[in-house]
Amino acid sequence: PVLVVDFGAQYAQLIARRVREAQVYSEVVPHSTSTAELLARDPAAVVLSGGPSSVYADGAPGLDPELLSAGVPVFGICYGFQVMAQALGGTVERTGTREYGRTDLDLESATGVLHTELPEHHPVWMSHGDAVTKAPEGFTVTATSPGAPVAAFEDVERGLAGVQYHPEVAHSPHGQEVLRRFLRDIAGIGPAWTTASIVDEQVALIREQVGTGRVICALSGGVDSAVAAALVQRAVGDQLTCVFVDHGLLRAGERAQVERDFVGATGVRLVTVDAKDRFLAALAGVTDPEKKRKIIGREFIRVFEQAARDLQAEAGEHGEEVEFLVQGTLYPDVVESGGGTGTANIKSHHNVGGLPDDLRFGLVEPLRALFKDEVRRVGLELGLPETIVARQPFPGPGLGIRIIGEVTAERLETLRAADAIVREELTAAGLDREIWQCPVVLLADVRSVGVQGDGRTYGHPIVLRPVSSEDAMTADWTRLPYEVLERISTRVTNEVAEVNRVTLDVTSKPPGTIEWE
Ligand code: XMP
Repeated sequence: PVLVVDFGAQYAQLIARRVREAQVYSEVVPHSTSTAELLARDPAAVVLSGGPSSVYADGAPGLDPELLSAGVPVFGICYGFQVMAQALGGTVERTGTREYGRTDLDLESATGVLHTELPEHHPVWMSHGDAVTKAPEGFTVTATSPGAPVAAFEDVERGLAGVQYHPEVAHSPHGQEVLRRFLRDIAGIGPAWTTASIVDEQVALIREQVGTGRVICALSGGVDSAVAAALVQRAVGDQLTCVFVDHGLLRAGERAQVERDFVGATGVRLVTVDAKDRFLAALAGVTDPEKKRKIIGREFIRVFEQAARDLQAEAGEHGEEVEFLVQGTLYPDVVESGGGTGTANIKSHHNVGGLPDDLRFGLVEPLRALFKDEVRRVGLELGLPETIVARQPFPGPGLGIRIIGEVTAERLETLRAADAIVREELTAAGLDREIWQCPVVLLADVRSVGVQGDGRTYGHPIVLRPVSSEDAMTADWTRLPYEVLERISTRVTNEVAEVNRVTLDVTSKPPGTIEWE
């Protein structure tokens, strides 16, 4: 792999994604990883990420010069560029000229590999206070900028190069090309990480892990569990059974979509458990958001657990145990929880939540190495339809946390109807890609007076919560076109009898969360 050494800030994952976009497999490692450990991974190249420190600050993460003479190509970015310069005997100084944001890169004297034949002046995205003022011995300076006398350098012979700017961000329009050139022309790595290769590799790994064992997967209707299940299905076919719990808090058409589109595309064995009444009964009288979440989580586990036991019993009759549970854990979760390589073979805790001790499963997590966009591409490669692969995130507790107040069957009907109209109109307006997700929230305990036809109404408001986001950690409210808002408002108030007012949530996250509960 290409190992991205994480010097802090949020850049490392993005760099790994960009390396993968150049069809080279890449992983993130913490900067505390020793050179011996790094080299033991046999990296094709190492990329040093940016970070928030100054190389002079006390406790600033350093760089072991050994890494730079180990014969492994190294590319430094921003902070990584500066520690590299420092470790090799160059000069890093606080010049007093800071550059933040869009900066003009000057390539007039560009020779060498990374920057030749790019536009002589083009914008790059910078974020630095210190600057490299003298490149280390043996390096060619290939770019400058107003605040960075040395904005890029390379020593092709030794396979070492770096840039002061951030090539990984979209605001550096030629950044991806520069990264690609480093990988191809300096590190000599060919493009091999393709969607097809991911599928082949994962299928082989799943077969090796699972053998002839039986596997169970809880489908949520979301992208991750669907793609994970489809991969396992591709690998071991009918050894897999999927369980779909219909808790009655789903959006219109979701159950049918799973039963029709997912099974249609994969031929997977699917057990649907209808648990609507059970969930409604458990939620009766409950208005507190945390209580709702806990009840829904608890009931979900009980229902899934029963389904798993039923399958165990059925399989046991044929002398086979269900040994494995599929989970759709993604790479960002793995990085964030400090985890690295190796698949844990422990109780199934995080996603499906606390299953009891007597249900012990080995975990199959075929998406552990993948980012969300890769998961979507793998889904398409496996033949899953757009309706599943391009789906917006939907919370596990479903519409239960989008009804503010008690959850009842009637209120669910109302919200489902309004939500279906909103989704239809957003899709028709071609906004699905721009919007991360658009919860529709029913303020079930609020009533307002309206007038419709000749009569007075006393109905409920709904709230539209369209947001744009990269990862749901932060979000901005999406500026929907007025015409679209108008169509939604007209249709919802005409077609959903209980709703007489449509409102728009214009709060970013933070301070607001995406969901209302
Ligand atoms: P918040 O409301 O915290 O939501 O800004 C961030 C993202 O997480 C989704 N979400 C959930 N997803 N189980 C899930 O699988 C949950 O309990 C849950 N709660 C929130 C939410 O839809 C948004 O995408």
